[in-house]
Amino acid sequence: MVDPALGEGTDGAPRRISILGSTGSVGTNTIDLISRAPGRFKVTAIAGGANAALLAEQAKAVGADFVAIADEAAWPALRDALSGTGIEAAAGDEAVLEAGRRSADWTMSSIVGAAGLAPTLEAVRRGGIVALANKEALVCAGRLFTEEAVRAGCRILPVDSEHNAIFQVFDDARRDGIEKIILTASGGPFRTLSREKMARKTLAQAVAHPNWSMGVKISIDSATMMNKGLELIEAHHLFAMPEDRIDVLVHPQSVVHSMVSYVDGSVLAQLGSPDMRTPIAHCLAWPRRMDTPVERLDLAAIGQLSFFAPDTDRFPALRLAREALRAEGDAAPVLNAANETAVAAFVDGRIRFTDIAAVVEETLQRCPTEPIVDLEAVFAADAKGRRVAAQVIAGFDGVSIAHAGAAI
Ligand SMILES: NC(=O)c1ccc[n+]([C@@H]2O[C@H](COP(=O)([O-])OP(=O)(O)OC[C@H]3O[C@@H](n4cnc5c(N)ncnc54)[C@H](OP(=O)(O)O)[C@@H]3O)[C@@H](O)[C@H]2O)c1
Repeated sequence: MVDPALGEGTDGAPRRISILGSTGSVGTNTIDLISRAPGRFKVTAIAGGANAALLAEQAKAVGADFVAIADEAAWPALRDALSGTGIEAAAGDEAVLEAGRRSADWTMSSIVGAAGLAPTLEAVRRGGIVALANKEALVCAGRLFTEEAVRAGCRILPVDSEHNAIFQVFDDARRDGIEKIILTASGGPFRTLSREKMARKTLAQAVAHPNWSMGVKISIDSATMMNKGLELIEAHHLFAMPEDRIDVLVHPQSVVHSMVSYVDGSVLAQLGSPDMRTPIAHCLAWPRRMDTPVERLDLAAIGQLSFFAPDTDRFPALRLAREALRAEGDAAPVLNAANETAVAAFVDGRIRFTDIAAVVEETLQRCPTEPIVDLEAVFAADAKGRRVAAQVIAGFDGVSIAHAGAAI
């Protein structure tokens, strides 16, 4: 007998799911897992940004009821590709919000960046389960996001491998036994480099993550370690842990995905191969488990695991995120907006790799922290962070970067 409170149908009815950001790295991994479990899931809605061809192909493959594409210019291509299939489709931001509202027991939130906040909130308000990959949504809206989930009776499941690991070993019923949580970080492709060497790195080098295959933005965030900074803020909100009880530990092999340390000296960790299909499957089947084709961990073959303290002089983004979390108010959404703006400028070849954190720092200095009273204030802080970061970037000397305009 299935517990209806978990958002699953009874008598083995398939779990009805929607995927916001289905064409991305997390989205395609989610569809891969669904396709391997016929009859277990029914896809009600999928949404993407601009890739009409892949979105239409996915919709046909999984039999989605509704498809939304954010980019209105991509509408003719989507409409033509779905013609005669009977699949309902629409374009524009409102269509993506509609995908979030569509009836489902379980939603994957995997749009990249703050653009995912509004559609994810629609899914949260619907109730059921939201599997959260889109960390920027939680970084921006923080407590307002978690309060919205409580109000709607929505269960948030963490997809980020670190937070999923913590979720698996975090004794929520006996929180008084928990001392701290320890987020592991691979350190990214530039883990051992000096700032001078990092400054000369190209886009192709920045996205070449040593362990994980991910989208462009998160790969760059991993290289600057802003990803770990965003995850620190995410962990604070997901697990209601104060900032000073969240540690970061560099672990280049990405085998130990994170840890929880208890008052008696016990440290519980979750381990696995670096493949996002494990945490995604954990959320898809939760509270059960499902098979995945993920390569099984062979610790004897790996031989050694290593751990280092992070270096916030070479990776200032981590320090900036910690400071933004401590500052409270709108510092976190401003930090996130500045980072998204700076990453886009780096991708376009307008700034150097090491300028990304410099843009974020300068933006935060130019934006005195203001209180966040409601979601409108979150969107206003996001707009302010983008505007000020763009001004900071415009003030930089023009740089000539070899990767400008190059395909990734
Ligand atoms: N990749 C990972 O392994 C991983 C791990 C942990 C957490 N995450 C988090 O998961 C999120 C997604 O990461 P990703 O690596 O999967 O990113 P990605 O590969 O760049 O995919 C992003 C997805 O968002 C869609 N999108 C972009 N703008 C949109 C908009 N305005 N409206 C609707 N859809 C939009 C994209 O559509 P198009 O394809 O049409 O552009 C695509 O489907 C990020 O928040 C990331 O931090 C990712």
